[in-house]
Amino acid sequence: MKLLITGGAGFIGSAFVRLTLTTDAAVRIVNLDKLTYAGNLANLEPVAESERYRFVHGDICDAALVDGLLADERPEAIIHFAAESHVDRSILSASPAFETNLRGTFTLLEAARQHAVGRFLHVSTDEVYGSLEPPAEADENFPLNPSSPYSASKAGSDLLARSYFVTYRLPVVITRASNNYGPYQFPEKLIPLMISNALEGRQLPVYGDGQQIRDWLYVEDHCRGIRSALDRGRDGEIYNIGGNCSLPNLQVVRKILAATGRPESLIRQVQDRPGHDRRYALRSDKLTSETGWTPEVEFEAGLARTIQWYRDNADWVRNVKSGDYQTYYARNYAHR
Ligand code: NAD
Ligand code: TYD
Repeated sequence: MKLLITGGAGFIGSAFVRLTLTTDAAVRIVNLDKLTYAGNLANLEPVAESERYRFVHGDICDAALVDGLLADERPEAIIHFAAESHVDRSILSASPAFETNLRGTFTLLEAARQHAVGRFLHVSTDEVYGSLEPPAEADENFPLNPSSPYSASKAGSDLLARSYFVTYRLPVVITRASNNYGPYQFPEKLIPLMISNALEGRQLPVYGDGQQIRDWLYVEDHCRGIRSALDRGRDGEIYNIGGNCSLPNLQVVRKILAATGRPESLIRQVQDRPGHDRRYALRSDKLTSETGWTPEVEFEAGLARTIQWYRDNADWVRNVKSGDYQTYYARNYAHR
């Protein structure tokens, strides 16, 4: 089977590429990635020499490039990871999220339709459901209620993908996962930012009261869920992928401090994020009952593995935290 992966140099896409190429000899992967600030070829070093892997540097909004790639490679399926994926960046500047998440998804859907691609798996997020009051949990029929430019652009791309199934019968499957964590995650998201700051003895900026709740999913569990939906999901269906691990942010940060042996005095409660969703919660029993998938990695074990990875990969962290990262960090945190 040949897969076209978009965004395979990012956090989740690269985990999918590494996992798939090392565990499934029957799969070939073409990875289309623009290498934005979040894309990093170092994430793919373990598999870069594989003869079943090809990297293509390009933008998913480039219709001619996408069309030519589908004509040349004729992949059986597309797994669409590429996105501007960070809420805070989308608040500072919404335009890249709308360009990539909406125009980029549209460009891929259109090309997939023209080339009659056999399956289009659109990777989405639980953030499209917006903030849920306890004890509500979103199933796949829950109303979309996005709060940030990022989640609005993802909700829009989900609806575009659905429209290509309903109108053109393109075999679309949509997955909506909860918050991921694991090795190689760019240190702008909560867990890698707190781990790397803790390891460097820097302050840990917790937004507002730190009681916002997220459901944590180890990245390889997410990748296995995507593969299950790709292989056994039904055309036109949506599948939630959750980690069964709801925790308030402050508790996550305290676990990181305990595991890195740093004092709680590093925590700095800072001005809240505008429009901050209080709680995400989702049910993923549809994917479990239809495919047998369940999350395998407990949070404590996944977090320990992740912290160890950041300890062992100080060069990777130093590289991604240099240059533009410093500008972003100052822009997002200096005024808080
Ligand atoms: P990421 O930011 O780490 O990586 C995104 C990748 O997409 C990068 O390699 C980047 O270079 C590439 N990219 C961006 N714009 C592009 C463009 N125009 N053309 C080609 N490539 C482009 O993101 P991630 O955390 O790995 O997320 C991957 C997907 O999973 C996204 O669609 C995101 O919405 C979704 N998701 C993420 C999470 C999470 O917790 N990180 C949870 C649920 C769903
Ligand atoms: P994040 O990793 O950005 O994911 P998302 O907003 O997509 O869920 O943030 C996770 C939670 O952590 C969210 O409630 C915001 C909070 N947070 C902080 O408190 N401080 C930070 O520096 C960051 C990046 C996030």
